[in-house]
Amino acid sequence: MTFMAKSLLGATELSAARIRKLLATAGAFSRTPPPALLQGKTVVNLFFENSTRTRTSFELAARRLGGATLSFSAAGSSVQKGETLIDTARTYAALGADCFVLRHSASGAPLTLSRAVRVPVVNAGDGFHEHPTQALLDAFTIESRLGSLKGKRVLILGDIAHSRVARSNLQVLTKLGARVTVCGPPTLLPPGLEQSSEIEFAYRPETVLPDADAVMALRLQTERQSKAQIPSLSEYARFWGLTADRARLMKPEAVILHPGPVNRGVEIAPEMADGPRSLILEQVANGVWVRMAVLATVCNPEGLEKWLAQAQSQTGGSRRG
Ligand code: CP
Repeated sequence: MTFMAKSLLGATELSAARIRKLLATAGAFSRTPPPALLQGKTVVNLFFENSTRTRTSFELAARRLGGATLSFSAAGSSVQKGETLIDTARTYAALGADCFVLRHSASGAPLTLSRAVRVPVVNAGDGFHEHPTQALLDAFTIESRLGSLKGKRVLILGDIAHSRVARSNLQVLTKLGARVTVCGPPTLLPPGLEQSSEIEFAYRPETVLPDADAVMALRLQTERQSKAQIPSLSEYARFWGLTADRARLMKPEAVILHPGPVNRGVEIAPEMADGPRSLILEQVANGVWVRMAVLATVCNPEGLEKWLAQAQSQTGGSRRG
């Protein structure tokens, strides 16, 4: 298998069966003492953009599997002297990297890197493009609370145009059989999405909230907007924010997600982010299991298969992923 084929570059390339396997593996890791599947391996976090959750959970995931981690930040590195992404990665490869976890502002940077180095690459968020491990952990979190996503209605609310989280979630959720509706200001909906036969569209959240099983509020990404695409933050919050009044339209059992970081009072009211429906901190915690599944799959697929077979024989069959 090529290093590019071993890589996880986006949810678009994942089949439903592969997604199911990753979620089942994350579930197995969450129930059992972690095996040392990354013993002797070094995972290098190459972060060219800021991160709290993704970076920390990849580090924890690698360490829980017995691996070593190296953490790179563009600030304070030789990137400031003009060194390129590829030369930076080649330097780490020469130092013994077994896997690169890459976050970058350029869409397609993980694909470019995977073609340039003989080390598998995991996409930890690239520009507007994809954030596949976020979508996997979102699916894992919804299913942990509500059961199978098949037939569930998920509303993705907010700044869809600039959201790599939305792009990856559209892939993962629809492949797992969810009905997905995207809703946001017309200026923040990507052109062409209305043509999709798999995704529903709404311009007002009130029309979808009563039927939604899960609502995913997205961060308003002002740093990625080339020009003002909304009149003001308060206007956005008034028409598109997940406020207490809007949440009252939801079914009693429906849940709220947000990938973080949260703009409190903009896309979601503080009482909704912290309230009983909110799964935001469960998303964070589940991110470690999901990233363990991804790293084990990428770095040691044979060892993982053996461990899964053993774990299954000990529990007498598979349980929910
Ligand atoms: N959801 C997410 O990617 O958060 P961080 O930017 O903190 O990693």
